[in-house]
Amino acid sequence: MKTLTARRFRNSGIAIVAALLLVWLSGAMTTALRDTARQTGWILFSMICFLAAYNLRKKLPFLPLGASATWLQFHIYVGLLTAVVFGVHVGWRIPNGLVESLLATLYLFVFASGVIGLFLSRSLAKRLTTRGDEVLFERIPVYRNRLQAEVETIVFEELDEAASTAVAQFYADRLRPFFAQTRNFWQHLVQSNRSRFGLLNEMQAYRRYLNDAERETMARLVTCVEAKDDLDYQFSLQATLKYWLFVHVPLTYALLVFAILHLLLVSAYSGGIS
Ligand code: HEM
Repeated sequence: MKTLTARRFRNSGIAIVAALLLVWLSGAMTTALRDTARQTGWILFSMICFLAAYNLRKKLPFLPLGASATWLQFHIYVGLLTAVVFGVHVGWRIPNGLVESLLATLYLFVFASGVIGLFLSRSLAKRLTTRGDEVLFERIPVYRNRLQAEVETIVFEELDEAASTAVAQFYADRLRPFFAQTRNFWQHLVQSNRSRFGLLNEMQAYRRYLNDAERETMARLVTCVEAKDDLDYQFSLQATLKYWLFVHVPLTYALLVFAILHLLLVSAYSGGIS
């Protein structure tokens, strides 16, 4: 743990020194009336190509391209450093021109999605271990169907034996929609238990209309509700961990396309790529 903190400290230090150096160098060159846009543009483009190459590294794990964990470390620090290079490149101003504005917007979205994704992957991965059994994402629908079938069996058994339809009525009104599909996606993501406790409180309050046998059935249903809610929690967190990359990666490719377009336009106006 200590080495991890030390490594983060060292890497952050290197990134900060590199950022300061870059800002200082660009300031010095501007004072000497030298245009830095070309140099910073190429540095930024190379950094973005390196960051995008992480996708290839993940797609070709069999090639001897170094450990994925090392790539991720470089990815994070180089990714953060691009913010400074980008700022220097655009002169800390909002760019004008259609391609430049689109390019800047794309860059900001890729950067923001990276930072948010990093935060999510760190925090959600920890939270996943705190509630319910860790289940394979692809198996979640199977477990949900199983739970729904179990609940229906309990309710129908009760209906056969009991004189009243109170439990079946509660199931039809409140539990069937709950078990039919994943529920409370956003609440689970922000760690809110409001719906869970709301439903459990309703079940508790409903007990006053039930006889002893029906109360026992209701207790079994409570266990199923808790298990289904835990499953929804796992779904919500795992889906977010999985799908944030579906924003980060396609935007990366759009960014590369616009960066190349920008490069071609700039070189057409300035008489060649150099
Ligand atoms: C600004 C330019 C950036 C580009 C072009 C870029 C591009 C990419 C690409 C192509 C991947 C590979 C995804 C895959 O194939 O699974 C990726 C993953 C990732 N990026 Fe970025 N990224 C950028 C910035 C950032 C920043 C600033 C951060 C965070 C500070 C970040 C954090 C991550 C993380 C955490 C992953 C997923 C790693 C994993 O789960 O293995 N990225 N990025």
